[in-house]
Amino acid sequence: MSAVVDSHGHGHEHHDHHGGYSGIMRWITTTNHKDIGTLYLWFSFIMFMTGGAMAMVIRLELFSPGLQWVDPDFFNQMTTMHGLIMVFGAIMPAFVGFANWLIPMQIGAPDMAFARMNNWSFWILPFAASLLVISFFMPGGAPGVGWTLYAPLTVQMGIGMDLTIFAVHLLGMSSIMGSINIITTILNLRAPGMTLMRMPLFCWTWLITAYLLVAAMPVLAGAVTMTLTDRHFGTTFFNAAGGGDPVLYQHIFWFFGHPEVYIIALPAFGVISQVIPAFSRKPLFGYASMVYATSAIAILSFIVWAHHMYTVGMPVTGQLFFMYATTLIAVPTGVKVFNWVATMWKGALSFETPMLFAIGFLFLFTLGGFTGLVLSLAAVDIQLHDTYYVVAHFHYVMAIGAVFAGFAGVYFWLPKWTGRMYDEALGKWHFWLSTIFINITFFVQHFSGLAGMPRRIPDYPLMFETWNKISSIGAFGFGLSQLLFLYIVLKAIRSGEKAKDKQWEGADSLEWTHLPTPVPYHSFETQPVLK
Ligand code: CU
Repeated sequence: MSAVVDSHGHGHEHHDHHGGYSGIMRWITTTNHKDIGTLYLWFSFIMFMTGGAMAMVIRLELFSPGLQWVDPDFFNQMTTMHGLIMVFGAIMPAFVGFANWLIPMQIGAPDMAFARMNNWSFWILPFAASLLVISFFMPGGAPGVGWTLYAPLTVQMGIGMDLTIFAVHLLGMSSIMGSINIITTILNLRAPGMTLMRMPLFCWTWLITAYLLVAAMPVLAGAVTMTLTDRHFGTTFFNAAGGGDPVLYQHIFWFFGHPEVYIIALPAFGVISQVIPAFSRKPLFGYASMVYATSAIAILSFIVWAHHMYTVGMPVTGQLFFMYATTLIAVPTGVKVFNWVATMWKGALSFETPMLFAIGFLFLFTLGGFTGLVLSLAAVDIQLHDTYYVVAHFHYVMAIGAVFAGFAGVYFWLPKWTGRMYDEALGKWHFWLSTIFINITFFVQHFSGLAGMPRRIPDYPLMFETWNKISSIGAFGFGLSQLLFLYIVLKAIRSGEKAKDKQWEGADSLEWTHLPTPVPYHSFETQPVLK
């Protein structure tokens, strides 16, 4: 990996932070927010390809009814690790990478507040990922229990389950340290004049996300720790025979799990809120309402968790509460979608690759939001629970929503990060191939789900064959299309044209906040450097 060039030629005290180390030692010891952002983004891509390879195994087995390629136990291990790796290894670290690169520059800070802890946050991740991979080689293999790690099945698993629990602890530590860093940086290191309500929206969404992480990750740590003590130390938290309750696990898990959805979605909203104004040549519409809507979504996300559990035998009053609370989230989400569309309204639109991915996000994330609204209705969800309709729903939010926002952000900021421009024609190819194949993969899963196909099974009745064949073809196509993305990024870094100072025709993200007089972040570079 070559040294990162600052496209503005100021150098950004780039070499101050790694004390003369070069080569691999530079990357291991770096405390520079840009280096660490780069590490996060490459780690995320490696995990994206690893979790993607597991998705290919899943779709290969499901290409035809009957058991052909892998045995059922290995299939279950694939669905478990695909979920864990994509959520904790691919999507979350990608947005932490964006946070590292962008937040200090957007608020005029010299670096992250705790630069050495920042290094630690990152370097925990490869160890956590290794534990997940090593669990496959333990007696009994990786736990085939689903990414939600539901009790009581987890109590019966082999030692791979313990490695997974330890991996979850490490991932949580990394996220919490990263969040403390982001909160402290934003609250303490803003340049004079950069009030909170003047921050670019990406900073706002991450500030709120960081609070969500600090509140939610310890809850997950508690859930897996109780699983660990049930396994090895004679407790019976989740065992009815000892006075416990397996449903307790689901309550604790989803008290983390639903905010986790917004931990992934809010930074994606932040990226989209920067890309759409840039390619509309207009400031973001409704900046303040965006901030309040983001906060409202974050608060509501803590009182809706049992919409994942309508089938456990909850009282009707409980079902009604969680149903109404969940549908309430549609209001602030609707405000956001309205604002993005209003930003484009009468704008001088252009459709380079970042904008294509942003508009793709807008359509397809909204589609995933609508199916979420369908599933929030308790009476409907009881029919659709654990079917492929649910799989289709959350892949529209995650695999399309969050991932497309990630692509939009990479194409948008790559010229700033590397000083070089990517191949626009190939970028558009990447967008169209991804969009077509991902919809072939997941749209048909609504149909197999409505027809009753259950999730997390390696085999199915003949009646579901057609939808599964189509879905698998889409998945293989989407997987191959991501090799094109790797090629585009490598080509840009090695031989891309030199990026212009304002690559996007004067509509550069960081200048286009809601401010009447845009404040370019260059003007904050005279701030004193923290040593
Ligand atoms: Cu939820």
